[in-house]
Amino acid sequence: MIRRPRRNRQTEAIRNMVQETTVNLQDFIFPVFLLEGDNQKTEVSSMPGIYRYSIDKLLEEVQECVDLGIKVFAPFPNIREELKDKYARESHNPEGLFPSAIRAIKQNFPDVALVTDVAMDPYSSDGHDGIVENGEILNDETLEVLGKMALVQAQAGADIVAPSDMMDGRIGHIRKVLDENGFQKVAIMSYTAKYASAFYGPFRDALNSAPKAGDKKTYQMNYANAREALIEAELDTAEGADYLMVKPALAYLDIIKLLRENTNLPLAAYNISGEYAMVKAAAQNGWIDGEKAMVEMLTSIKRAGADIILTYFAKQYAQLLKLKS
Ligand code: PBG
Repeated sequence: MIRRPRRNRQTEAIRNMVQETTVNLQDFIFPVFLLEGDNQKTEVSSMPGIYRYSIDKLLEEVQECVDLGIKVFAPFPNIREELKDKYARESHNPEGLFPSAIRAIKQNFPDVALVTDVAMDPYSSDGHDGIVENGEILNDETLEVLGKMALVQAQAGADIVAPSDMMDGRIGHIRKVLDENGFQKVAIMSYTAKYASAFYGPFRDALNSAPKAGDKKTYQMNYANAREALIEAELDTAEGADYLMVKPALAYLDIIKLLRENTNLPLAAYNISGEYAMVKAAAQNGWIDGEKAMVEMLTSIKRAGADIILTYFAKQYAQLLKLKS
């Protein structure tokens, strides 16, 4: 035998030398859940190790993460039911929980970057990402709300706004609203190929944001489709997106690869709540090694072509790196 691939796997030093893909802390965006009140920290039952924080507690958590080397965060608010309505009005209240948290983080951590979620569902009494009328999700009317929400987030100090709603034309509309108001420097990370997925369950527990009726299939993509992701990517790029994203990540590695081959924009992948929960649940049962599964999962997402990974594992991965060093 002339060719023996095992020669390059003989020792750890050699394996490390020929390793093609590495997950680094600067690849991460850490999603964090927000809660009203003071001194509040409640665990998300379906996401062991992940908590909802009141702003004061969140600042402590951000400090810990910054000390570990995580510099980019994506906050998501848990809004109390009384503040929700059909039009998600609370989503563009400048004094609301979300803009207040953005201001607090940016004041305390000017070097931290914030990627802020633009979507109605945490604030919608219908639990949908758009305005619901007779069971239909209205597109163009929803854009108005998204524009207002993005503007309030930019005014509060968001670096990157990230529409996760999947309405048509949202990137163009948000770009226009931001530019008209002097926020040319605020970037847009588009949830470009966001699929209607069964893996979002734990996130909806965290925010209490599940749809009250129906599902999200008229706006989120059909998981059987790949070419359609290219159409979304083309539109987002033409409308001015600065980043594209694929979501979920694990069952969609082919989509990550497809978009990587078809765009020169930075590409993010969202390693979502259900993907986190599966690893945690199996690890708690002693069925898999959770730490190893985490590293393998994150590496696969990067290997598929993602530059950036939104992941609930960000802090645990950073802790693991620190332990090893
Ligand atoms: C909704 C939104 C969802 C997630 C982020 N933004 C869920 C949904 O579409 O219902 C899911 C993230 C996760 O599961 O970790 N705008």
